[in-house]
Amino acid sequence: MRTKEDVIAELKQVYYPGFSRDIVSFGLVQKVDVNEEYINVQLLVKSQDSSIGDKIKTETEEHLQSKFSDSKIEVSVDQQAPPQFNTSSEQTKPNFLPTVKHSIAVASGKGGVGKSTVTVNLAVALAKQGLKVGLLDADIYGPSIPTMFGIKEQPYFDGKKLHPIEKNGVHLMSIGFLVDNKDAVVWRGALVHRALQQLMNDVSWPELDIMLFDMPPGTGDAQLTLSQSVTLDGSIIVSTPQDVALIDAVKGVKMFEKVNVDTIGIIENMSYFLCPHCGQRTDIFSHGGVAETCKSMNVSVLGEIPIDADIRKGGDEGIPVIIAKPESPQSKAFIRVARNVIEHINK
Ligand SMILES: Nc1ncnc2c1ncn2[C@@H]1O[C@H](COP(=O)(O)OP(=O)(O)OP(=O)(O)O)[C@@H](O)[C@H]1O
Ligand SMILES: [Mg+2]
Repeated sequence: MRTKEDVIAELKQVYYPGFSRDIVSFGLVQKVDVNEEYINVQLLVKSQDSSIGDKIKTETEEHLQSKFSDSKIEVSVDQQAPPQFNTSSEQTKPNFLPTVKHSIAVASGKGGVGKSTVTVNLAVALAKQGLKVGLLDADIYGPSIPTMFGIKEQPYFDGKKLHPIEKNGVHLMSIGFLVDNKDAVVWRGALVHRALQQLMNDVSWPELDIMLFDMPPGTGDAQLTLSQSVTLDGSIIVSTPQDVALIDAVKGVKMFEKVNVDTIGIIENMSYFLCPHCGQRTDIFSHGGVAETCKSMNVSVLGEIPIDADIRKGGDEGIPVIIAKPESPQSKAFIRVARNVIEHINK
């Protein structure tokens, strides 16, 4: 007898109309019931176009019938209008960063996995590849960029706008340049939203090929603000290899899906340990989980970054490892990620 897993495997062969992604990875499948006689599948489609739901229903029914010809196939589709902030408001939403060609949010589903560390080194790696790069610290509560870049001065204010601070080839802006960390934590909801928009709007950003956003951990408020303020090319999710962090990585991907932002890929941080004495590699956590998760969600693995004392030291001392030790295997790992990102935005 066929199992629920058999049916889900077949549902992965049904694509969302007009996309190269299947209905399972898109999160459309709500329920699958299987017994000896019938297969019952419930789908949830969020689209204003009613023909999409009908199309998916027909295609799913036909595909399942062709694979399980002796079962009665029942596919029901619950179609709902998408939330207000996506497609329909897309045309009217302001673009707060008109001088920026590509915008990418670096996020995770869980705190402390190394988003800021990865973003800092990736930004410098992209600049080393010849791109004009900006980095906006979207973490209003706990900005890390001033420390990780070793910046103590305040940005220049010309009477109208703030000027980003340029360091290591990257144009930087952070709330941490303007207020003490201890003051930043008392900010609340709407103020955080406004502060983040001001870091885009009230800053004289130069012409940039790419802007990275170092996202805060947690709830998705910043994701919502960003998706309302700029057209993002996509998100990059940072995850560690443990199962528990991977579940959070999936959460991170889904958080962006809710605001209609695709995930470009996942970076596995603290992926393996390179012995500083003999160079031998040890997979401290089980390795390869990110690749598997990426495959099931149809997103790319953008790279693997080792867990390493120099990477941590670079963050604490304000000299990113890619500047301090540009020829090290750690730095090369960041360059590989940068090349993958460039390949993606040039597509
Ligand atoms: N590859 C790595 N090797 C060694 N240490 C690392 C690595 N990546 C991050 N760290 C260390 O882990 C700690 C957390 O990193 P980081 O602040 O970048 O995480 P985060 O995801 O931005 O955290 P938050 O969710 O609080 O914003 C820091 O001390 C950092 O130096
Ligand atoms: Mg951070």
